[in-house]
Amino acid sequence: MKDRVAVITGGAAGIGKACAIRFAHEGMRLVLGDVSGDDGEKTLQTLREIGAEAVFEEGSIADEAFCQRLARVADERWGRLDVLVANAAHRSFTRVIDASAEEWDQMLAVNLKGTALSCKAALPKMIEQGRGSMVLLSSVHHAAARKEMPLYDATKSGIVSLTKSLAVDHAADGVRVNAVCPGFTVTDYHIRKAIHEGRSVDALKQTQMGLLGRPADPSEIASAIYFLAGDESSYITGEVLMVDGGFSI
Ligand SMILES: NC(=O)c1ccc[n+]([C@@H]2O[C@H](COP(=O)([O-])OP(=O)(O)OC[C@H]3O[C@@H](n4cnc5c(N)ncnc54)[C@H](O)[C@@H]3O)[C@@H](O)[C@H]2O)c1
Repeated sequence: MKDRVAVITGGAAGIGKACAIRFAHEGMRLVLGDVSGDDGEKTLQTLREIGAEAVFEEGSIADEAFCQRLARVADERWGRLDVLVANAAHRSFTRVIDASAEEWDQMLAVNLKGTALSCKAALPKMIEQGRGSMVLLSSVHHAAARKEMPLYDATKSGIVSLTKSLAVDHAADGVRVNAVCPGFTVTDYHIRKAIHEGRSVDALKQTQMGLLGRPADPSEIASAIYFLAGDESSYITGEVLMVDGGFSI
């Protein structure tokens, strides 16, 4: 994977950051896009300390021009785009009965339309190259319902559908498209939330989840993304990979 070029949306924090760090250790060149400029600059610093060639762009994937910019930066800087990790997402904790039309618009604009626009922007270069790999972040909760995240979970189901449609439409172009469905993964977001709510971070990390009886570390999701991004998965497309410690079985 050395010198291959990846765009990672939502690459400033959490799973996207873990993915960027893994890709950097593998010698890949990176364009990170994220709404959080502060986190983005910090992650960029970490990547440069690893010795990676990396660029950070601030903006929202809900904006098509931003998605196009990420792909253009990769092309202008390195002349190629091998991997897209469509990872950025917005969360809400509202039941359908309480959700406003505006909340739906925001959720759909980022998680579903923004993911699709990120893929749209990456496709022309991948098609020109005759090869490319996209990994879209869904969730174990695209299939397993739970309380109070119906808007988010509906978009994660949509991402599974999008993954399969893109895989069908672009297989002949040499572009593979797969989805990763993480189970509960403790990121800085969850740690900050636990602290804010007066809950113990140790207890959070020991949450009983799935068959393995614990949440994932972001690096464990990044390993699955790396596998699907690279040639080791060359005969896999349209696949939906649960990375959930056995939760969904
Ligand atoms: N952490 C989990 O337990 C879990 C479980 C299942 C699925 N996922 C999925 O994995 C992906 C990463 O989740 P995470 O837990 O690392 O989240 P996170 O909140 O830790 O990080 C998400 C990143 O995306 C950025 N972002 C948010 N909205 C954006 C936008 N409109 N444009 C660009 N960037 C934006 C944020 O600033 C942040 O840096 C998401 O798609 C999420 O739905 C996470």
